[in-house]
Amino acid sequence: MGPVTFRVARGETVVLLGRSGSGKTTTLRLINALLEPTGGEVRVGGRATTAWDSVRLRRSIGYVIQEVGLFPHFTVRRNVGVVPVLEGWDAGRREGRVAELLDLVGLPPAEYGGRFPHELSGGERQRVGVARALAADPPILLCDEPFGALDPVTRTQLQEEFATLKARLGKTVVFVTHDVREALLLGDRVILLHEGRIKFDGSPEAFRTSDDESVGAFRSML
Ligand SMILES: Nc1ncnc2c1ncn2[C@@H]1O[C@H](COP(=O)(O)OP(=O)(O)OP(=O)(O)O)[C@@H](O)[C@H]1O
Ligand SMILES: [Mg+2]
Repeated sequence: MGPVTFRVARGETVVLLGRSGSGKTTTLRLINALLEPTGGEVRVGGRATTAWDSVRLRRSIGYVIQEVGLFPHFTVRRNVGVVPVLEGWDAGRREGRVAELLDLVGLPPAEYGGRFPHELSGGERQRVGVARALAADPPILLCDEPFGALDPVTRTQLQEEFATLKARLGKTVVFVTHDVREALLLGDRVILLHEGRIKFDGSPEAFRTSDDESVGAFRSML
């Protein structure tokens, strides 16, 4: 990665856009301290990630990873409740929260709660991943291509749901995608990464009019 500098305001949704290998996942991993910077500093809530207790840091950040990463031998309910269990919530509070989240992502708990990941479609698994990331109500959400590998219709539906959800929940979100439409739909701000460097950082409106060459290359896919 080259030097990358940006700031995300509380409640803002920043989309990291870039081709495969441009450094999007690496940036997310730096934010939740799965990686330590080789130079410079990453601050979360004003404090360097290296100064945070890494467990506390990760629990304050919901992370929807690129491959969903559900526990295959846990039911949907148990997968969503993983962080509340770690946080020591009592069973009643946990079950209430899990049911609320499954409803929120459009998976009625009575129907889906007892299923295992292999009994779900890819899109349903993605929704469980989103519910799990939101479970303990973290102020920060990192989403790594959460709607990748979905058919265009389901993808559009989940994007629209996410757009509504993010307005309602008021989270600080860093959302990774290589899909320019998705970036412009969901981002309050778009950052274009190219070979580990920032080529553009601005509003979706500014992205539509920028004369940067790499922005142009992405825009031509619209
Ligand atoms: N642990 C690692 N050690 C060395 N290089 C790595 C490591 N992880 C990733 N890379 C390299 O860093 C670059 C950026 O990887 P990264 O995973 O951030 O890309 P990405 O933008 O998320 O791509 P994609 O859209 O394919 O997921 C790639 O060239 C990758 O091979
Ligand atoms: Mg990636």
